[in-house]
Amino acid sequence: MTANEDKQIKDKLLAELRERREKVEAMGGRESVGKQRKRGKLTARERIEKLLDKGTFCEIGMFGTSRGTAFGMDKIQVPADGVITGYGKIDDRKVYVYAQDFTSIGGTLSEIHAQKICNIMDSAAKGGCPIIGINDSGGARIQDGVDALAGYGQMFFRHTLASGVIPQICAILGPSAGGAVYSPALMDFIFMVKGISYAYVTGPNVVKAVLGEEISHEELGGAIAAQRKAGVVCRSENSEEECLQSIRELLGYLPSNNRETPKRVDWGDEPTRTEATLFDIVPANPSKPYDMHKLIERVFDQRQDGKKNYFEIFPIFATNIITCFARLNGWSVGIIAQQPMSKAGALDIDACDKASRFIRFCDAFNIPIINLVDVPGYLPGTEQEWGGIIRHGAKMLFAYSEATVPKITLTIRKAYGGAYLGMCCKGLGADTVFCWPTTELAVMGPEGAAAIIFRKELEKADDPDKLLQEKIKEFRSIFANPYRAAEHLHVDDVIDPAETRPRLIKALEMAIDKTEQRPKKKHGIIPT
Ligand code: HXC
Repeated sequence: MTANEDKQIKDKLLAELRERREKVEAMGGRESVGKQRKRGKLTARERIEKLLDKGTFCEIGMFGTSRGTAFGMDKIQVPADGVITGYGKIDDRKVYVYAQDFTSIGGTLSEIHAQKICNIMDSAAKGGCPIIGINDSGGARIQDGVDALAGYGQMFFRHTLASGVIPQICAILGPSAGGAVYSPALMDFIFMVKGISYAYVTGPNVVKAVLGEEISHEELGGAIAAQRKAGVVCRSENSEEECLQSIRELLGYLPSNNRETPKRVDWGDEPTRTEATLFDIVPANPSKPYDMHKLIERVFDQRQDGKKNYFEIFPIFATNIITCFARLNGWSVGIIAQQPMSKAGALDIDACDKASRFIRFCDAFNIPIINLVDVPGYLPGTEQEWGGIIRHGAKMLFAYSEATVPKITLTIRKAYGGAYLGMCCKGLGADTVFCWPTTELAVMGPEGAAAIIFRKELEKADDPDKLLQEKIKEFRSIFANPYRAAEHLHVDDVIDPAETRPRLIKALEMAIDKTEQRPKKKHGIIPT
């Protein structure tokens, strides 16, 4: 063969490669991509470009295609089999990513589509890299039959094995219907975008056929419903750009896997900074609300760029408890805090579920936990009791007790009864417990307590109201302060609120390298 012939063959091969690549890169074709844009959505490839650091994406499995032959599937080739898979970087950190391509046969999942996802999940787990999935799919590809369902099974299995090993983040940016929603549900964080995302097990048509109820996609499983009502989605953003940016921001607080600790990031805030205005935020009257976010903003590291200094998870679900990531002297921490502006900060079913999942995530990924407590108790009533507040509340006790990361509890104003325990006291393994001087620590609030323990005296009294007020005062003088608890070492110190930041930082830094053992077992049986 002459050198010229050799070159011609190679040029032809390269031309074929280019042509094949271009065909796959065109996704479902101009018309289908046009429809995607009309729906107000980016394409799968654009999403990956926006998610990752510029120019870092490497696609793998691009020539994968379905083995299905039924219903004309043998006559068509689905580009990339409806899912783009590969790896790249986010803020210079290695990540694996997949994005379902709705323009190619509705981003539906076939055996090969699933295998492509499973392949990168395996690589991510082996390499200790986070995985980010972008879902936009009509679910199981009907023409692929049980092969498609089997693919979901393999994904569910891998999500479960990877749980607590690598962070798994999902953005649902289109439909996610039927059993397919269980793939995101098995991951750690789900994001959605208002107006384009929806997730449900049975859609509006089935709801109408079975129950006769008329409901839109948006109302049933849109970004707001899936977060506020169902508590499935951890954040609903206004645009795809915002959503992908949020995922990048979230990742900044996380390690790449459970063997690492999160990267320490210096935002330039002083660890010794005191804050005289902190005490002004909190009214001395224990039943008067205030916004706990204000406290978080002032205590934790502040950013020089003026951006929010905490990243909230589930900001519109179970708003009586706040779960967010922030930084303390550069260390990434998970905050669990009451929000007295919502249900007085009482613990209810949803709050317990939200907090316990967050605690378990932080513990799995070596993120210290800071508890900011101002809790009147568990929410009373039949709705809560019959809904299972006992088992849901038990989850929090379980999660805190199981957690071996540094746990620091600061009671701001009150912690009564079971909720005192529920917010991580010494007994549940808190490394340090601080109180502000405003703190009331007791089995219950003074009013309820006095009415119970002085019932007989009150029944006999000439002026029961006067006596009750006296007894409330007496109870308050004994228990409605942090000193009795500090005398008995349930509290390590009562601190000046202005010094909250430096004291939390010192306590965190003392506990950061601690080791704690738990009994060897296959796994515990978490209350459900
Ligand atoms: C094969 C499908 C499909 C599916 C959509 N398509 N869903 N093809 N299997 N499951 C195809 C459509 O035929 C169409 O192809 C293209 O994808 C785009 O779909 P449209 O209907 O034109 O888009 P739109 O109007 O936006 O509606 C999107 C949709 C709707 C709401 C998702 O397509 C739909 O309801 N699909 C069925 C959803 C579903 O029930 N899936 C099964 C879920 S059960 P053309 O060629 O016309 O462009 C499941 C089991 C998992 O997933 C179990 C795990 C354990």
